Amino acid sequence: MDSAKPPSSLARRVAGWLADSPLATPGRRLMEANLRDYHLPLSKWGKLAAGSWLILRDYADGRFPPTFEDQQKAYQGEIDYFASIPGSARERMIADHIVKPFWDAHWFGKYAADLARLLRVFEQLGVPPNARLLELGCGCGWMAEFLAIKGYDVTGTTIAPDDVGIGEKRVAALVARGLPDRLRFRVAPMESVDEAVRDVGPFDVVFVFEALHHAFDWRRAIHAAARALRPGGWLVLANEPNRVHTFVSYRVGRLTNTHEIGMSGPELRAELTAAGLPEHRVFQPRFDNRITAHWIAGRRPPA
Ligand SMILES: C[S@@+](CC[C@H](N)C(=O)[O-])C[C@H]1O[C@@H](n2cnc3c(N)ncnc32)[C@H](O)[C@@H]1O
Repeated sequence: MDSAKPPSSLARRVAGWLADSPLATPGRRLMEANLRDYHLPLSKWGKLAAGSWLILRDYADGRFPPTFEDQQKAYQGEIDYFASIPGSARERMIADHIVKPFWDAHWFGKYAADLARLLRVFEQLGVPPNARLLELGCGCGWMAEFLAIKGYDVTGTTIAPDDVGIGEKRVAALVARGLPDRLRFRVAPMESVDEAVRDVGPFDVVFVFEALHHAFDWRRAIHAAARALRPGGWLVLANEPNRVHTFVSYRVGRLTNTHEIGMSGPELRAELTAAGLPEHRVFQPRFDNRITAHWIAGRRPPA
């Protein structure tokens, strides 16, 4: 994390002692099993025990809080995501993501609510129904697909070619259904996304849903997104995690070799302003409580 002080060696020694103590043995055992099988069924307490043990161990070893220094390594971790899930073949991961968000009642309910919320945010910002949208970190493209069906012109971008492969199947499905050609996917790191989409921009809205926190450098990503906006356009940060995520999802980040960090409201807003987006709408949280995910928009001043 950006502003973390180096831990004192006493604090590290205490963490190491706790991690090695019998008290932490159940957590260690669960984490060792989880490292072999990502889909290991874990209760809330099991996740807490495994995640806490890992944080103690890694804090003692100087690995927690995470610092991100090697951009190519970070990019490669994200690119290899489907192929690196312990206990799950790449083919199974791809098959799962082709049908996202229709996983089960819980996940479908969550993603349907998130999509409805994003549509409401667009309405509140006055985004026209045929607006040109750019999505950063679009994953398998499920949200981009629904937004294109809704009538927007959508360009989905992600760092992972496997994601774009799935996205292209979604495009083919829309074409087969006779819908106009208004969805496309590209491989593009969000830190330099403006360069990769110049021919299809500028955009009325750039948005990122649950992915900015995966960027190697989320600050650079905000600046690149701002450069892709037309004057008067909005950058929407949708459901990006608050600070507690750095702790809660550290276990998942280590299992999947990806970035899982949380960001504070004030630092997100400061970066929006620094990127030339001085007008903000904060939809959530009302006051920064370190837990509730962020829904924040920043506007490029109209010409
Ligand atoms: C947690 S997934 C979310 C995906 C998508 N928004 C969804 O809801 O399914 C994070 C996504 O960000 C992408 N990603 C990670 N780092 C990136 C980067 N630096 N530039 C662009 N995409 C990135 C990953 O490949 C992945 O597709």
